[in-house]
Amino acid sequence: MHPDLLTALRAALPADAVHVDEELRRAYGHDETEDLSHPPEVVVRPRTTAEVAAVLRLCHALEVPVTPIGGRTGLSGGALCVHGGVGLALDRMDRIVEIDEGNLQVTVEPGVITQVLQEAVAARGLYYPPDPSSRGSCTIGGNLAENAGGPRAVKYGVTRDFVLNLEVVLPDGTVLWTGANTLKNATGYDLTRLIVGSEGTLAVITRAVLRLVPLPRENRLMLVPFASAEDACTAVSATFRAGVTPSALEFMERDAIVWTMKHTDGLPAQLSTDPGAYLLIEVDGDHGDALMRDCETILGVMEAHGAGEVLFAESASEKAALWHLRRSVPVSVKAHSVYKEEDTVVPRFALPRLLAGVKAIGARYGFSSVCYGHAGDGNLHVNIIRGDLDEAFWKEELPKAIREIFALTVSLGGTLSGEHGIGLVQRPYMDLVFNPAQLELMRGLKRLFDPKGILNPGKVLP
Ligand code: LAC
Ligand code: ZN
Repeated sequence: MHPDLLTALRAALPADAVHVDEELRRAYGHDETEDLSHPPEVVVRPRTTAEVAAVLRLCHALEVPVTPIGGRTGLSGGALCVHGGVGLALDRMDRIVEIDEGNLQVTVEPGVITQVLQEAVAARGLYYPPDPSSRGSCTIGGNLAENAGGPRAVKYGVTRDFVLNLEVVLPDGTVLWTGANTLKNATGYDLTRLIVGSEGTLAVITRAVLRLVPLPRENRLMLVPFASAEDACTAVSATFRAGVTPSALEFMERDAIVWTMKHTDGLPAQLSTDPGAYLLIEVDGDHGDALMRDCETILGVMEAHGAGEVLFAESASEKAALWHLRRSVPVSVKAHSVYKEEDTVVPRFALPRLLAGVKAIGARYGFSSVCYGHAGDGNLHVNIIRGDLDEAFWKEELPKAIREIFALTVSLGGTLSGEHGIGLVQRPYMDLVFNPAQLELMRGLKRLFDPKGILNPGKVLP
């Protein structure tokens, strides 16, 4: 540790904001990415923007790395302190500052848990749609950093589409707002959209003004089984072609369901695990009859693609059980085995070819994968299962297979990450999607914001 760091932090911050005990450092040293652990040397838990600025000012002067940390649910290692230094945990900045019902806006601090925000605005008849599976423990700051998506993105958009304005602290401690609290803004470069998804490498977000929509009054939810996973994927683009935009269109392979049934309580009892895959489809809106017509259209499409008997969720508790099943897939896969998660995304019509290609690559290299995700967005989470694969294969051979998966994704018009970010673990593959000129532009932006390279070093850029 830098010899002056601790003294400087303790002089600048309240005593209960600076921690060096081993247990806490270990707790803040991991997220949900594989089994990786990179603890910070010091955990700092500020309560105000001024405290964040003080931390950055002094780390800038001492040239100590600072890694912003949210809810630690990330899947690309973006919050791991790979160079030690300060772990800047934003979890105590968790106030919902203002719900502006007149303008359908909310102002929040970064440590607000996504579900807490959703429930607070729902109590006023409003809706914040971005909802990662980890919404019960992820934070808005982390969602902003990674441009998180989730099931409702297919109709409503991802986190970036809900951000109007951000208060950020630059690596040298300068505090500024990136835009204006307006729905339209054609004024200068769009710093707001640049910061969202920059994975904590350009600035630390300390406040966000988010857009809301009225809470839809009704929804319908159905689970559709398919003998063939590829048929399920083919039915996805056909649904949109038929004129329906579901509020969620999720895909789950059989193993995702089987393992989730094994590792999770409170699931729908009558669910069969015979089908090769399921689609979970939701429509929402204010008019029940319009939703029924959407459901009929969807049923027609599903039937034409060989679906089995559709299960409609009849009650709120049945809907909750189906969503619980879907949201429990990532933790259940994790409980089953160490795995590597690839967050592939392609234009949705290419989804069947992506799935078939991933399975073919797996067969050739000798690994199994379980795939699920936001099929309506062409966003397929490919979970490569460690099982009893040996260390040499996992470390030496698998990266070659992952490169092939990404090369296939790119050849289908897709890219490396739909919603989990590049972080630490996908950096080696950035050359597949960006040429040297593109990477140099990004490096130039990084240098401009962070000339000393103290903010979340070792992430995003190869
Ligand atoms: C999900 C997370 C892993 O879709 O993105 O469940
Ligand atoms: Zn997802």
